[in-house]
Amino acid sequence: MCGIVGYIGNQDSKEILLKGLEKLEYRGYDSAGIAVMNDNGVQVFKEKGRIADLRNIVDEDVMANTGIGHTRWATHGVPSTVNAHPHQSNSGRFTLVHNGVIENYDILKREYLQGVALKSDTDTEIIVQLIDLFVNEGFTAEEAFRKTLTHLKGSYAIALLDAENNETIFVAKNKSPLLVGLGETFNVVASDAMAMLQVTDQYVELMDKEIVIVTKEEVKIQTLNGEEISRDPYTAELDASDIEKGTYPHYMLKEIDEQPLVMRKIIQKYQGDNEELTIDQEIVEAMNNADRIYIIAAGTSYHAGLVGKQFIEKIAEIPVEVHISSEFGYNMPLLSKKPLFIFISQSGETADSRAVLVSVKEMGHKALTITNVPGSTLSREADYTLLLHAGPEIAVASTKAYTAQIAVLSILAEVTAKSRGLELGFNLVQELGIVANAMEVLCDSKEEFEDIASKFLSTTRNAFFIGRGIDFYVGLEGALKLKEISYIQAEGFAGGELKHGTIALIENGTPIIALATQESVNLSIRGNVKEVAARGANPCIISMKGLETEEDSFIIPEVNELLTPLISVIPLQLISYYAALHRECDVDKPRNLAKSVTVE
Ligand code: AGP
Repeated sequence: MCGIVGYIGNQDSKEILLKGLEKLEYRGYDSAGIAVMNDNGVQVFKEKGRIADLRNIVDEDVMANTGIGHTRWATHGVPSTVNAHPHQSNSGRFTLVHNGVIENYDILKREYLQGVALKSDTDTEIIVQLIDLFVNEGFTAEEAFRKTLTHLKGSYAIALLDAENNETIFVAKNKSPLLVGLGETFNVVASDAMAMLQVTDQYVELMDKEIVIVTKEEVKIQTLNGEEISRDPYTAELDASDIEKGTYPHYMLKEIDEQPLVMRKIIQKYQGDNEELTIDQEIVEAMNNADRIYIIAAGTSYHAGLVGKQFIEKIAEIPVEVHISSEFGYNMPLLSKKPLFIFISQSGETADSRAVLVSVKEMGHKALTITNVPGSTLSREADYTLLLHAGPEIAVASTKAYTAQIAVLSILAEVTAKSRGLELGFNLVQELGIVANAMEVLCDSKEEFEDIASKFLSTTRNAFFIGRGIDFYVGLEGALKLKEISYIQAEGFAGGELKHGTIALIENGTPIIALATQESVNLSIRGNVKEVAARGANPCIISMKGLETEEDSFIIPEVNELLTPLISVIPLQLISYYAALHRECDVDKPRNLAKSVTVE
């Protein structure tokens, strides 16, 4: 996803902007740029590639107290210097950066910009050329900016410079995330508090269709028709150490290792005064009022939702459907009479999920968001929020957020079950504590997983992760981890389904990673392993203590059978990490990917 930063104050802005963009690198990008403004006008420096490449072209001698910056993840127009942001109007007066997608940019181009020479293939450039056009028609810069915004359809987070007014940054937001940060002698703009934590931890959320006039003394928030809005700042929870790698070679490895700590933090955060697990009563009521629950999510969060379905159905006895956001949004099933929607999203900004939230809210239904980011769009726009308390997840490949989502879903199920007079048959606080200890054991077994990765995945072009029941869902997550960071074509598959066609892909040496943690299907999944081994496959069985046999490659510690996904995923995370390392892939910032996908 793209990232935006902006600074206006008493210091030179170049280094502040570049450091801010570096804090947003984890989101994934293919080009970057900054524009700085002083009495001599606006200077733009932009480059395809990394921030390090951008640094090489920035003129150190240019001093400017005002500036904006951008990391681009290409949507319209290939990754290139000319398509990189910032974009300038043909007059050179206006310079702008933008996150999001302008859906009607083609129409606007045809309607208003015939004969205007466009430099790039981006939707963004349309915005800055329209502002030029409206100023040429006699509007002031601010009026032209507003007028342009009223014509845009789609999502945008914008920061705009006017070369004739170097005391102001103009800002606007619709659907794409954007914040303004407050300082004593300066103010900042950022897609994410992390970017500008270096200078302030005081932030004001912006809502859709708002415009902001930012000077170094003041931040004026207005609606598009000029109505003033006042909104209190919040203190960004992150602390700088949270977003540093420390001694780790990669954020992904650090975040895998943080999982035991996150488990313990979740227990502590959700324990009430009497040590019982507790959640907001209104969420419990919403769960109990529902006749069916619809879990909506994408990617890893979708995989966590599949596990959450098991908890809510088996523990709280409420029927659950789990849907991929981008499918549900355009192919909505027949809904039950009293649905409750649960959105699972680490970032809280996934556009596919947010689009569904907007639709179901318009239909008058209630929604709960489970997210790692307080104040995120999906949190703000839902009726209820449950936080993951996992700390910032920087690596594109989601790990600690996945296990945190599963833990929070188990708590949601348990508290709801208790409110219905249902018994779990086990003490969830104790079991989650056992899980945290088991996680530690696995995080201390890295060498064994490095060996497994090198034995099974070092040269293969494909791999299968198979399991039955809840192990199948974890297999889907393992396959996603492997393919998104090592680029090995991997599939998660129901063990019993292989023989219905896919087994044709099994060749000599095809790695098959099989999970065997569920007693009820233990013999069946081992039968499936025999089927593929008989056809030349190279099986790697990961079983749970108590079910192990001497042919297994790794045995995970015993935990409550329903909670096994919390630990069986860790070997898959680590095996994928080492397979990617072995192939010298960019583990934290895999090609083509963004940490949070804020475009549909
Ligand atoms: C997971 O490793 C991926 N980075 C991706 O599938 C991610 O889970 C998905 O884009 C959903 O993101 P969200 O949880 O922030 O909504």
